[in-house]
Amino acid sequence: MFDIEKIRADFPILEREIYGRRLVYLDNAATTQKPSCVISKIRDVYEQYNSNIHRSVSRLASICTDEYENARKTVSGFINAKSTNEIVFTSGTTAAINLLAFTFGEKFVNGGDEIVVCESEHHSNIVPWQLMCERKNAVLKVLPFDDSGDLKTELLDGLLTERTRLLCVAQATNVLGTVNPLDIIVKKAHEKGVYVLVDGAQGIQHVKTDVTASDFDFYVFSGHKIYAPTGIGILYGKEHLLEQLPPWQGGGDMVNRVSFAKTTYSGLPLKFEAGTSNYVGATGLGEALNYLISTGLDQIHSYEKELTNYALARISSIPQLTVYGTSANKVGIASFLVEGIHHADMGEILDKMGIAVRTGRMCAEPAIHHFGLTGLVRASWTFYNTKQEIDSLCEGIEKAKKLFF
Ligand code: ALA
Repeated sequence: MFDIEKIRADFPILEREIYGRRLVYLDNAATTQKPSCVISKIRDVYEQYNSNIHRSVSRLASICTDEYENARKTVSGFINAKSTNEIVFTSGTTAAINLLAFTFGEKFVNGGDEIVVCESEHHSNIVPWQLMCERKNAVLKVLPFDDSGDLKTELLDGLLTERTRLLCVAQATNVLGTVNPLDIIVKKAHEKGVYVLVDGAQGIQHVKTDVTASDFDFYVFSGHKIYAPTGIGILYGKEHLLEQLPPWQGGGDMVNRVSFAKTTYSGLPLKFEAGTSNYVGATGLGEALNYLISTGLDQIHSYEKELTNYALARISSIPQLTVYGTSANKVGIASFLVEGIHHADMGEILDKMGIAVRTGRMCAEPAIHHFGLTGLVRASWTFYNTKQEIDSLCEGIEKAKKLFF
C-alpha cells in the first residue's frame, strides 16, 4: 500500500508554511526535497565519522571510506551496472557531461567527426558538446522534436553517418517532460556504430533504469534531483569505454605513482575522481536510493503515473492555458502559459500563494525557441505530491487570471 501521508511525513520541509500558507512544492524538476533519513545520514557523517576517504589510516577514515564505497555499490545496483568500476562520482550531471565531453573528445573525436544532440536537451547536454566540437573541429548536429515534444526519430537514419561518434539524449526532458524512446534511439545508433550518452537527470527518479539491459554506453544523473544532497552526481560508462578515456582532472586519488619523469594513473573509477570527493554527498545519495528501494519503486512509479494523468488533464482544461509538451509518454512536468500573463508574473503570483514553480527559459533555450516563446511556467511533481496540491495550483492559476483580467 502506498501511504501518501506517511511518505509526506518523511519530508520535513513539506510541513512548512510560505506567506502563511502550507507550501505546495511543484518545482521538483529543479530540485527535489530530502527525506529525514538522508538529512540524518549527513548529520551522522559529520557527528560520528567524518574523515577523509582513501587516505588516512584512522578508524574514522575507514568507516567513511566504507560508507563512500558502499554508496557506489548502491548506485551500481540501482541502475544495474555490471561493476562498481563503471560508477564515477562527480559533482552532478553537468560535471559528468563535461568530464565525458573532454575525455571522449580527446579519445574518439577528430576533425570532421559528428556529435548529435537533441533539440529538446538541457543546456548541459548541448554546451559541453559545442565546446568540444570547437576544440576538435567536429560538427554538432541536431535531432529535432515535433510540436508535441516527441523526437523525430525517423530522421535518425539520415542524421547518423559513419562520421557520427556520439548521440546525446535525455531520458526525460526538463521542459516538455517527454520520456524519450531510448530503445529505438539506442538501437538505431548502435546499428551505425554510434555510442549513446543518456542524460538521466529528469528520468532516473521517475523511470526504472537498467543501464545494462538498455545497453546505454554512458549515463549521467544528479543526486539532488533524486532526493539526495546537492553536489553529487554520477557518470556511468561501460567499463571498456571508461578504460579507454584519458584522465580529466589531475590531483590526489587519481594517481598511482607520481614523479617528474612519469606519472601513472589509478584504475577505474578513481582515475576520474581527483581531489577529495564529496563523500558526504555520496553517502547521502546511497541513503536516498535505499529509501526509494525500501519505499518500493513500482509503487512510487505507479502513484506518479496516476498523479501525472490527473495533473495533465486538470491543468490542460484551464481556459486560456496552453501546455507545451503533449507527448503520450511524460514524467510529472507541465510547462504552460496563460494567454496575456507573462511567465514571471504567474510565477510570482503563485509563489505568494505558497506554490513553488519554475519560470523562464529553464536552461533549455532551443526547446523554448521551438515554440517561438521567451519562457514558460513549469510545474513539476513527484511521489510526495498530491491531487489536492494539483488542485491548489489550478485554483492559483485561476486566481492569477482574475487579477489580470
Ligand atoms: N535542470 C534543472 C531544471 O530544469 C535545474 O530546473
